[in-house]
Amino acid sequence: MKLQGTMLVKENELYIGGVSCKELREKYQTPLYVFDEDLVRNNCREYVKHFRVNKENNRVAYAGKAFLPIYMCKLINEEGLCLDVVSGGELYTAYKAQFPMEKILFHGNNKTIEEIKMGVELGVGRFVVDNYYELELLEKICEEKGEKQAVYFRITPGIEAHTHEYIKTGQIDSKFGFTLSNGELYNALEKLNNYKNIELVGIHAHIGSQIFEVEPYLDEVKIMMNLVKEIKESYNIDIKEVDLGGGMGVYYTEEDKPKTIKKFCEAIIEKTEEVCKKIDIKVPILIIEPGRSIVANGGSTIYTVGAMKHIKGIRTYVSVDGGMTDNIRPSLYQAGYECAIANKIGEKRKNQVTISGKCCESGDILITDTNIMDIKSGDILIISSTGAYGYSMASNYNKITKPAVVSVQNGKSKLICKRQSYEDLFKLEVV
Ligand code: LLP
Repeated sequence: MKLQGTMLVKENELYIGGVSCKELREKYQTPLYVFDEDLVRNNCREYVKHFRVNKENNRVAYAGKAFLPIYMCKLINEEGLCLDVVSGGELYTAYKAQFPMEKILFHGNNKTIEEIKMGVELGVGRFVVDNYYELELLEKICEEKGEKQAVYFRITPGIEAHTHEYIKTGQIDSKFGFTLSNGELYNALEKLNNYKNIELVGIHAHIGSQIFEVEPYLDEVKIMMNLVKEIKESYNIDIKEVDLGGGMGVYYTEEDKPKTIKKFCEAIIEKTEEVCKKIDIKVPILIIEPGRSIVANGGSTIYTVGAMKHIKGIRTYVSVDGGMTDNIRPSLYQAGYECAIANKIGEKRKNQVTISGKCCESGDILITDTNIMDIKSGDILIISSTGAYGYSMASNYNKITKPAVVSVQNGKSKLICKRQSYEDLFKLEVV
């Protein structure tokens, strides 16, 4: 398991943020999400610095869907980032965290009337308008409330990138955004004249997630900048802001070779300047929306090892006290992870085992066939890089309670989300 951030080995024990996993288990029990605050803050700072947030007014909007407790909203605000929300629930979380509403981008391909009203009333900075339906609702609601709303149009630019490959197609087959290749976007732009309460200030696209290459982004830059020029020439609208979405890849296992935040940001900015110069337009304000690349490596999950089953000649199953309820990604996307035994971290990996969860589901496997130290029931198993889309996608399947989240920093631990109790499971039930 690659040591990330503040992870440190001392006398065969793994420490994160200066706190041993043993101590964390004693204090908070398992399963437990551990949040390496220095690592996450450092990622934010790298983005702010290399995306030239202070120098050139570019913006980094953290994609809250990756992990959004109130604590995280506050951290994001302290670090000078904007926030991308995709639902009334995420927006309300930001509101509870007193996140500045003007720094919020409101996404979603099917915002409800209530969500749109909430966004307008709270004063979110930008609606990322996804379709005609939303455009009409938003106009009507803004008119009723006497508000003018700044928006971006979400565009489906015909680039789809996933991890190791990307395709450039007409890509009409997406539920998101105004499609570029079939003229949908131009229809929407024409309609704008009828909407007096909506101001189009930017365009947005998101080309995928867990992407390692920069080329798809550079192609995206080209398309978007040309669009800025075209929209000015054909519709006389000044597009001042261009949002390139998120998706920057991270390390989960040795197969993953992500770019540094610095390299990634520099490549985008350089390409933007080059294209703008070539087509003779002013460089717009750039926005990116990283989620995973801010929090993934900052999160680890610690479990206690329970039952073990050895099937001779086939495999050994090692079951932990969590599973697909706290990390759905292996079952949902066949996502790979690395693990170790935190209380034997210095020892050799002599055995091959499969780490399984405790759900009544054969597919509840966290890691298949991994090499591990000599493992016994009661050991502390750690899976690294679970910080993105782990807690945010957690469920109560089998009425398993959600783990607590603890932030660790400078030798201290701090509870940021309590463990769900059995009683919490009935909060919504009317009995
Ligand atoms: N912006 C938009 C419009 C998005 O749709 C997304 C992710 C992001 C930003 C952030 O992407 P990131 O930097 O985190 O890759 N549950 C999946 C990931 C789904 C991502 C959906 N959209 C997973 O666990 O891999």
